[in-house]
Amino acid sequence: MSDAKQHYAELLGSVYRWFVSAAGDPVVRARTSLARYELDRGETYLDLGAGFGPHTLALLEAGKRVTAVDFDPTLLAELRAAALGEASAADGRPRLRVHEADLLEFVRRAGEERFDVILCLGDTLTHLPTLAAAEQLVSASAAHLEPSGLLALSYRDSTTYAEAGTARFREVARDERRSMHCLLEPIDAEHLRVTDIVTEVHADGPRTRLSDYVKLRIAPARVIAWAESAGLKLERQAEDAGMVVLVFAAGS
Ligand SMILES: C[S@@+](CC[C@H](N)C(=O)[O-])C[C@H]1O[C@@H](n2cnc3c(N)ncnc32)[C@H](O)[C@@H]1O
Repeated sequence: MSDAKQHYAELLGSVYRWFVSAAGDPVVRARTSLARYELDRGETYLDLGAGFGPHTLALLEAGKRVTAVDFDPTLLAELRAAALGEASAADGRPRLRVHEADLLEFVRRAGEERFDVILCLGDTLTHLPTLAAAEQLVSASAAHLEPSGLLALSYRDSTTYAEAGTARFREVARDERRSMHCLLEPIDAEHLRVTDIVTEVHADGPRTRLSDYVKLRIAPARVIAWAESAGLKLERQAEDAGMVVLVFAAGS
């Protein structure tokens, strides 16, 4: 078993953009979703777990300033390449800052910096190593919001997941040269083992790569309680494409 960082380095980072794109252009979908939840009205953004940058790129296209944080160098290299040309402003200050860092360490060390909107989207929260770390990410993020700022989280709630047998295998994406499945196995009430299975066709035939890691199972009520303890107010709660969406406002 690998931790989340190793899992991205060994397997998931190399195919992430490919399988996410199966549902349509990720930047277009990010733009639509930011507008749907009224997250497109800020000027300064922190994108926690930015990945290859679907939300960051949509925000840069809209003229925003974005700080993107992620620990996967492959995904951040994709983001930097895609952001070329979008990243500078008329005043010469770069509109994109990219940090290769652990999310919790980054927010803890962000000093006095404040953001209009902090995003932790696309199931990133469940990648943190413990529930305590997830709670700390929420509370540390709250401390870096402007007085009228917003914190938006979206993630898969797997607390009621109880599939057995072959139903534990899901097809994630496929095309003529690659397929991806995942196997989801509950470990206990708070942890789910995810095994990603990627098969690619090479000149000498198909080859399968496997890697597993453990994700957190987090009930929305838990996240809401963490956020309220950190002084945030729940503004919106929704279900969107299999994910829980929670938007909190700084309680000024
Ligand atoms: C499921 S992806 C979501 C990416 C993006 N937000 C999106 O919506 O497509 C989770 C991302 O968080 C990053 N990540 C997970 N845990 C992290 C941590 N502790 N520190 C930094 N990055 C992390 C992964 O590298 C990955 O890019």
